Amino acid sequence: MKDFLAISDYTSDEIKDLLDLAAKLKKQYFKKGNKAIFKGKTLGMIFQKPSLRTRISFDMAMRNCGGDALYLSPAEIGLGKRESIADVARVLSGYVQALMARVFEHEHVVQLAQWSDIPVINGLSDYNHPCQGMADALTIIEKFGKKSKGLNISYVGDGNNVTTSLMHVSALLGWNFTVASPEGYDTNPKAIEIAQDIANKTGSKLTFMRDPHEAVKSAHVIYTDTWTSMGQEEEAAKRELVFPPYQVNAKLVSEADKDVIVMHCLPAHRNYELTDDVADGEHSVIFQQAHNRLHAQKAILARLFDVA
Ligand code: CP
Ligand code: NVA
Repeated sequence: MKDFLAISDYTSDEIKDLLDLAAKLKKQYFKKGNKAIFKGKTLGMIFQKPSLRTRISFDMAMRNCGGDALYLSPAEIGLGKRESIADVARVLSGYVQALMARVFEHEHVVQLAQWSDIPVINGLSDYNHPCQGMADALTIIEKFGKKSKGLNISYVGDGNNVTTSLMHVSALLGWNFTVASPEGYDTNPKAIEIAQDIANKTGSKLTFMRDPHEAVKSAHVIYTDTWTSMGQEEEAAKRELVFPPYQVNAKLVSEADKDVIVMHCLPAHRNYELTDDVADGEHSVIFQQAHNRLHAQKAILARLFDVA
């Protein structure tokens, strides 16, 4: 494993191995604290967009395991503006032991990886959000157990970066994955093609539709995300006219399996894509999911550093 740019770059066994390691490191963290497996290592964290979870969970993942992290803000680095991506990658390769980058264009994190001598982790791009997908899978397994093949995961809303990673991890783990999104806001066709290839091997069923009510029938997981992702702010007003039928509210949740869990990567725009009563209700696992970012990322870092 040199980089972690997309879940679909890995096999089912590799992803299962990472999830097992995440569970082990989580247990260790709560029992007696993590061992100093990242001692002497610093993670450079390049952010072109804001973040709460990604920034803090990566920083704490490094510190919990005896390492360090450096926040590099958009203003400081000017990735591809003040200096070319190739030069930034080669300079930072001499200062830190791994990079995490949150970028606008996916191609930019790919270029960082190409030019770096050190591992590069994708902390969200316009294409995907693989670290989120790993924390999501860890949460689903915690709720439904490891023998979770055949689970029905239903994503309702904008077919975005979070959808791509959730779709890929679902396909790799043999979960059925359904998306209900409005016309014009479909899941990336290239990402679907990749997922379908995986699904053909694992037996996962992928379904794409318009009707959110149809999509959540017999769902074990209902997942939603913001209607307007970072970088799309000028489209917010237009999107707010299109997406209300896709709101995850008590009525929609009542149409799913009785033990359904409700997920959201956060930040949530409460009472837009997700109502308050559902976000804070008995089916919601949104904070467990956010906390699992820490544990999933420790496993990714450990494999990239080859220390566990
Ligand atoms: N879910 C997630 O990535 O949150 P942040 O944007 O706060 O990092
Ligand atoms: N789809 C959202 C996810 C935020 C974590 C965005 O890209 O803004």
